[in-house]
Amino acid sequence: MQSQDEVSRFSIEPTAKQSEFIFSTNKFSCFSGGFGNGKTTAGCLKAILLSQFPKNFGLIGRLTYPELRDTTQRTFFELCPPEYYAKENGGEWRKSDNLVRFANGSEIMFRHMDTISEKELLSLNIGWFFIDQAEEIGEKVFLILMSRLRLAHIPRRFGFLACNPAPGNWIYNRFVLPTEDGSISKNYFYVTATTKENPHLPADYIPTLLESYPDELIKRYMEGKWEVYEGQIYPEFNRKTHVIKPFMVPKSWEHIVAIDHGMVNPTCALWAAIDYDGNVYIYDEYYQPGIVSQHAKAILEKSRNIEVSLWLIDPSTGTKSREKDGMPWSVTEEYEDHGIYAIPANDQKLAGINRVKEFLKVNPKKRNPRNEDMGSPRLFIFSNCKNLQWEITQYQWKQLRSLSVRNAPEQPRDFNDHAMDALRYMIMSRFPPPARRDSRPGVPMVAPGRTRNNNIITRPTHDSGENLFGGGEVDEWTQR
Ligand SMILES: Nc1ncnc2c1ncn2[C@@H]1O[C@H](COP(=O)(O)OP(=O)(O)OP(=O)(O)O)[C@@H](O)[C@H]1O
Ligand SMILES: [Mg+2]
Repeated sequence: MQSQDEVSRFSIEPTAKQSEFIFSTNKFSCFSGGFGNGKTTAGCLKAILLSQFPKNFGLIGRLTYPELRDTTQRTFFELCPPEYYAKENGGEWRKSDNLVRFANGSEIMFRHMDTISEKELLSLNIGWFFIDQAEEIGEKVFLILMSRLRLAHIPRRFGFLACNPAPGNWIYNRFVLPTEDGSISKNYFYVTATTKENPHLPADYIPTLLESYPDELIKRYMEGKWEVYEGQIYPEFNRKTHVIKPFMVPKSWEHIVAIDHGMVNPTCALWAAIDYDGNVYIYDEYYQPGIVSQHAKAILEKSRNIEVSLWLIDPSTGTKSREKDGMPWSVTEEYEDHGIYAIPANDQKLAGINRVKEFLKVNPKKRNPRNEDMGSPRLFIFSNCKNLQWEITQYQWKQLRSLSVRNAPEQPRDFNDHAMDALRYMIMSRFPPPARRDSRPGVPMVAPGRTRNNNIITRPTHDSGENLFGGGEVDEWTQR
């Protein structure tokens, strides 16, 4: 018989978000958000609840053993009434095996994922799994565990995760993005809560974090935002503003395709249409690893019903690094062999980034062509372009990857930037640079026809030896 003290010790009232997660009947669920919002508690409560089903078998995992032991497992034992696994009731806590057996025959194994072998995972037959701080763990583990959810005598099997937002993480693609763009499958459930939504934290917890954390970290680790983090290259990107529902793009608009060819990495091609006001709509994407012939076939197939006025390709593909019939051969030429005649794009990284930023920026004086409201960017992305959206939110400056000393951002991090490169090529092809002005008094403006132009698509007519791109004068670029 439980004493009154015991009952109160183990009676816990979940917060609204914890309840949504615990009682979600979707096969896979994810509880994300700020530090201390109650993720681990919710995951352990769900585990205990599922173990009420006799002879269920589940796994609680975390990356390393010390973290598993000191946080997740500790929370579990704080929440789980001991009589559930007490020896005298027929249960057991086998510490040497990291396994708890409930009196009803249900078992829970605790595993740390940093040393577990694929073979061990593949040998499991489970009814549920819970991964705490799942952003630390690779998607492959999730996929393997997913395939192990086949304990036959249990009516429903579940996989659930707790995580903090992390840049470049697979959880975003699987749970967050489909929730935001409305394409979430009924198998998946995603819930996020801020730190403030847990009223059970010590009173000084939130004020201390607010006082000590920079804004970017507050957004990520307290508000649980995935898209805003330190060093993001395109903070101007906002899904609500830039991502739009696909519509039938008029054939009469100008159509452009930009290709970023990957030797080992995926090749990305983007399709854009330009309306009569110069707004750019990226309406399709191709994102696959493979060889040129496969890429060319797929890209041409996607372009079948449109007239592409400009094909752009990564200029490095012009290098004759291959051989054909004893002659040096380039990737560009290989694309030509397969029917794609592309022009080398302007690959000036920082200038390109600046121009993309300008296209993303909302001009309050411009009427939005989609909803007629005042305030509009010049770049729109169709919601079906998932890889492009993913990369744009994750594209990050190299120096700010760690929390170490803050340097001036200079170079983007070389990671998942295939769509980012293709987007730059696209935007850099849009308008010729404006007239170069000399700041010295009395020196007239250079006539537009005589401007130096580093855009290799439109050849320079006058070469003064100066580099217009280097200064990064964004405003000048956008004057039309
Ligand atoms: N429903 C609840 N009722 C009472 N206390 C709760 C509840 N949910 C969480 N807590 C308490 O709030 C604190 C934080 O909870 P928990 O450790 O589950 O959060 P977390 O999101 O996993 O934190 P972290 O981000 O550090 O991993 C803990 O002390 C926990 O006991
Ligand atoms: Mg936790």
